[in-house]
Amino acid sequence: MTIFYGPLSWFDKQLGNRRYESFPEIVHARDEADRQIKVSGPNHSDAEPNGRQPERPKRVVAESSDYASLREHAITNFSGLIRSINPKHLYLHNPPTDVHAQLKRTHPTKVKRYEYPAVPREMLIHFRDGFADNLVGQTAARDRVLAALYPLTTQRRTKPVVLMFYGPSGVGKTETAQFVNRLLNGTLLRKQLSMFHNDKFASYLFGGAHSESSFAKDLLDRESGVILIDEFDKANAVFHSAFYEIFDSGVFEDKNYRVRLGASLIICTSNYGSEKEIQEALGDALYSRFDSLIRFNQLSRDEILQVIDRLVDCRFADLAPEEQKRLDPSETKSFLHPLADKFANVRKLGKYADEVISLQLVRTLLDEQPSLETGLKATA
Ligand SMILES: Nc1ncnc2c1ncn2[C@@H]1O[C@H](COP(=O)(O)OP(=O)(O)O)[C@@H](O)[C@H]1O
Ligand SMILES: [Mg+2]
Repeated sequence: MTIFYGPLSWFDKQLGNRRYESFPEIVHARDEADRQIKVSGPNHSDAEPNGRQPERPKRVVAESSDYASLREHAITNFSGLIRSINPKHLYLHNPPTDVHAQLKRTHPTKVKRYEYPAVPREMLIHFRDGFADNLVGQTAARDRVLAALYPLTTQRRTKPVVLMFYGPSGVGKTETAQFVNRLLNGTLLRKQLSMFHNDKFASYLFGGAHSESSFAKDLLDRESGVILIDEFDKANAVFHSAFYEIFDSGVFEDKNYRVRLGASLIICTSNYGSEKEIQEALGDALYSRFDSLIRFNQLSRDEILQVIDRLVDCRFADLAPEEQKRLDPSETKSFLHPLADKFANVRKLGKYADEVISLQLVRTLLDEQPSLETGLKATA
């Protein structure tokens, strides 16, 4: 019996190319057989109709997503089920805590854990040197992030580094977190707290039925060492206590699952305006658990102009060659520049740039006099 904790891609590699039987399929087949026996009367044995005992399965596998398809009784009586299925080898991927505990009591069990790659020192260099290609301004935040990442490059660190990026909306907080994650080549585990309604969020955080999604399970399945908890300020205060232990020691436990994060990076973002505001909103207990609170400033007018230019270049590069011929990016830019005063929030600029580009393309397509000004004034 071997239990594996880590991402699915890693688990699949551990299994290799041998043949496996799926645990939920065996369970469903047995449930189905039981049902037929009930119909055909009680005079039955485990033997197949031809009198042979069913063959002992060689390698049985349950993947992380399989537990959700099992009925509650298959989880509560997991050890009993395994005893009666009697596989030669059993491979369990990210099982619920209860399954692990039962199996440990009844069968000799090995545990293997995926080691998320440590942050290499060169990553810090790439972060410093590549920052300006990905983000305009925010150099103070860049340097604070660098300092905060350093402990993750040492062997000494065994618990997560927890950061809070705060500041106005649309100034590069989420973008910075994604840049860090890109440098560590992982699929980011990103949870946007504003997306949850309170009742759903409670079962997501504290655990509900096995079939429901949960934060602990998402953490177990995560592919990357970076965890982004976006819009932390949008979560109701009743949920703050759920984060104490994970920020403190890297352990997260809900009703069904338990995760040990180790030396990973947790980035929270929020629109708080100051450290004092964070302390008041989150309370001392949670506030003091952040390794570093990093301020992102409002972009200056000049920085917004740069963002506009990058945005247009980026959108332009995505166009088909035939479309590019019909568009003059400098014209688009100079049309958008006056908006630097109007939109302090860069996020809305992106949508607006898309609209302007589409309008320009439509106009040239319809072969109208490409007098932009009139049409665009109408949209603005
Ligand atoms: N400083 C910046 N430099 C370049 N692009 C930026 C900057 N700030 C925001 N953006 C752009 O605006 C959009 C929203 O930024 P985001 O990082 O999500 O903002 P927030 O600070 O609210 O998390 C992104 O697509 C990003 O590319
Ligand atoms: Mg954001």
